[in-house]
Amino acid sequence: MSPDKVYDIFVVGGGPAGYAAAIYAAKKGLKVGLAEKDKPGGTCLNRGCIPTKTYCASAELMMKMRESGEFGIKQSDINPQIDFSELFRRKESIVNKQVEGIRQLIKGNRIDYYEGDAFIESPEKVLISPKSSDEKIFVDFRYLLICTGSEPSGIRGVEVDHKYILDSTDILSLQELPRSLLIIGGGVIGVEFAMIMSVFGVKVYLVEILKRLIATEDMMASRIVQNRLKSLGAEVYTDVGIENLSLSGEGVNALLSNKKNIVVDRVLIAAGRRPVTNMSDSLKRELVNEKGFIVVDDYLKTKIDNIYAAGDVIGGMMLAHKAHYDGEIAVDNILGKNHKADYSAVPAVVYTHPEVASAGISEEKAKLKGIDVKVGRFFVASNGMAMARNATEGFVKIISEKESGRIIGGTIVSESASEMVTALTLAIKEKMTFDNIHDLIWPHPTISESVGEAMRDIRGMAIHKVGI
Ligand code: NAI
Repeated sequence: MSPDKVYDIFVVGGGPAGYAAAIYAAKKGLKVGLAEKDKPGGTCLNRGCIPTKTYCASAELMMKMRESGEFGIKQSDINPQIDFSELFRRKESIVNKQVEGIRQLIKGNRIDYYEGDAFIESPEKVLISPKSSDEKIFVDFRYLLICTGSEPSGIRGVEVDHKYILDSTDILSLQELPRSLLIIGGGVIGVEFAMIMSVFGVKVYLVEILKRLIATEDMMASRIVQNRLKSLGAEVYTDVGIENLSLSGEGVNALLSNKKNIVVDRVLIAAGRRPVTNMSDSLKRELVNEKGFIVVDDYLKTKIDNIYAAGDVIGGMMLAHKAHYDGEIAVDNILGKNHKADYSAVPAVVYTHPEVASAGISEEKAKLKGIDVKVGRFFVASNGMAMARNATEGFVKIISEKESGRIIGGTIVSESASEMVTALTLAIKEKMTFDNIHDLIWPHPTISESVGEAMRDIRGMAIHKVGI
């Protein structure tokens, strides 16, 4: 059987790793094919970041409206209410526009796009089952780039029935708000939904098995998020697991390990994600580790010379922007560039209120690794712009290597932290020290000045802070 098409690169999976890599490769002049079984944009656009952030934006506005008195705006006769069907429609419309945008980019870059399930039979052969016909398409390629992503992983002993016990995809498909929601897992997805749903008026119970929420983030960030959730009416249980979940009538009965019994309309399982692969067993044996991730080297090449992989399917930080980065690194290496992946400065954002954004290594991890650190701190409460915006809760923490003064990590907890973290990412990536950044000019008035002050605080030189 001869192939229907031969490509320089064939990309399997059209999420942030796959579509970005395909466009990047096409811009570099390669002949590219791309297969996606669902819609382009992957989890992030269709079932993750973008729909969730649409809800976050409404929750944030709602919170601001509730604070209007603080801004000198009386609204005695206005009582803001969530119109969830309108909110759902808005979310769908934003997602659809973005999906269409990616389709146009794929087309505009002359990438052959296959809407169908791609099965990787061998290092030389991919078979696509197109959505539109029963006839399978066989494509050939010089290089294969696997970007098949991840899916919600669930927890042992609990069956996601997609009706009462939901995963993150299901909750974004709900067309009506539940009255009550138990969220299992206080990681990124768990806290984001706990905040959104609490603001929307849902009674939220959040259960985390570890001692604190968003345990990969700075300890003080966890505390601020937990306190904010409590102030919104959520019940948060840390160091607690689930002993039993059973369907009862139109809801779910949950027994927690602290013996508390909770009856809720719906349960959301937010306990991590697992990789997705679609390949022959013999290839799996060669490429995949015991956890299901594709094993790659620092250049994102697998054990097989013409196969590369990028994004969630290779593990590490499961973030859309890291996936995008991976995709381009893989293409560079396919083009012979010898481009090593560097994950020392991957920004991560938790879209709570305030937001938690971090990059590089945390203070706790640095200490565990035996790195002697010097920490710069600044509380957003002293910042004029933060006061003007009634957004004074938060802090900036910068971690530097004591001896060299190099900035190696940091955390920003603040309104718009997601927009500020890039300054930190740049400092870490470019191995900057106090001497490189102490006289950087930050626009005034902005909350971002707090980042500059925390950087200067490494040497006790923050102007708006007493003490050395
Ligand atoms: P996660 O790994 O961030 O958190 C899962 C949490 O569930 C952990 O804290 C874990 O200790 C807890 N857990 C596990 N089993 C449990 C049990 N039986 N009972 C109670 N707690 C339990 O995973 P999550 O939140 O599902 O997110 C998946 C991925 O998606 C992450 O890699 C995350 O980075 C990414 N993501 C990123 C977002 C962003 O960039 N803003 C937003 C949402 C997801």
